[in-house]
Amino acid sequence: MKQIKKVGIITGGGDCSGLNAVINGITKTAINKYGIEVIGYKRGYFGLYHNDFQVLDLKAVSGTMHEGGTMLKASNKDNLFNYRMQKSDGTYEYKDVSDVAVENMKKEGVDALIVVGGDGTLTSARDFWRKGIPVVGVPKTIDNDLPSTDVTFGYNTSLENIVDALDKIHTTAYSHDRVMVVEVMGRHTGWLALEGGIAGSADVILIPEIPYDIDKVVNKIKERQTQGKDFSIIVVSEGAKPVGGDVVVREIVEDSADSTRLGGIGEIVTKQIGERIENEVRYTNLAYIQRGGIASQFDREVGLRFGVKAVDLLMNEGSGCMVRLEGRSVTSVHLENVVGKGEMGETSEGGAKYVEADGEIVQAAKAIGITFGDE
Ligand code: F6P
Repeated sequence: MKQIKKVGIITGGGDCSGLNAVINGITKTAINKYGIEVIGYKRGYFGLYHNDFQVLDLKAVSGTMHEGGTMLKASNKDNLFNYRMQKSDGTYEYKDVSDVAVENMKKEGVDALIVVGGDGTLTSARDFWRKGIPVVGVPKTIDNDLPSTDVTFGYNTSLENIVDALDKIHTTAYSHDRVMVVEVMGRHTGWLALEGGIAGSADVILIPEIPYDIDKVVNKIKERQTQGKDFSIIVVSEGAKPVGGDVVVREIVEDSADSTRLGGIGEIVTKQIGERIENEVRYTNLAYIQRGGIASQFDREVGLRFGVKAVDLLMNEGSGCMVRLEGRSVTSVHLENVVGKGEMGETSEGGAKYVEADGEIVQAAKAIGITFGDE
């Protein structure tokens, strides 16, 4: 096995808080513990393809650990195994340009990659490993929809952002006797809505895993009114759908690994509720607010420990793995078992980790009076 002397970092997919903690963990461990060099590719795989990178030394990462976003920038496009290229006639074709990336690595003497991302980014990481490149993956997404890890980093800070917003919305909802509909992200899974909604004292939570009936949502609002509670907070996951209905697609991003962008269901729910009750109903889409900001303690610590473990794995023949959180420990799992798998036994379809519709968290929420629009 070739000795690793230089590592390249890629941060792909949508950004989240904690990415800079991972970059810090990798850079400091590589330099302090193993005496090897680190570079960071700019804008995810785009930088690997264009050989656009920045040298990461202790000074470069100093003071960045807690900051949101990624100092390396990110892109949720640029699948180098199916890369969108414009032809001379203006139309597009898709090509495998991964060999260009491998050549760029050779040119710069980069022996291995640490790839930080969600399912699309990690699928490419696995494909580079299959090509013979030493790779370690790090699971990242605010959606927490990646199987094979108890939790992804970035999720916790987004939950904090959601809870903070719900606390603020509560006071104005109460003051005006309003129904407040708050849409949150999460793609096709309801983790952000569920766990953010519980901690943010939502009265109704609508998630993709439990199709809702709008009349049951309205019944809950009316029931609260009979109890003297003239306001209600409804948290709607962007992937929520009515019984027998489908998700609301906001946009199709052609050259993205998962091209569908969801959004807008909260506005529809707002209108439907407004047609059925007297109170004023208002809509807030938390959108990118929930993806930004200073990283929480949890995301800083887990991000740093993921970074440390990623380098340890690479340097000790653990290539082809993804680091993960199992209980309170950082362990690893083979990349072949990560992408498209629900390896730890969660309800899993199509590769994502879904909320269990009758699981303990949902049952606890129901026990304290939260409605999911299903009963
Ligand atoms: O996967 C993270 C995420 O923020 C999702 O929750 C959301 O659906 C999507 O990315 C938004 O993507 P974009 O940044 O392309 O709008």
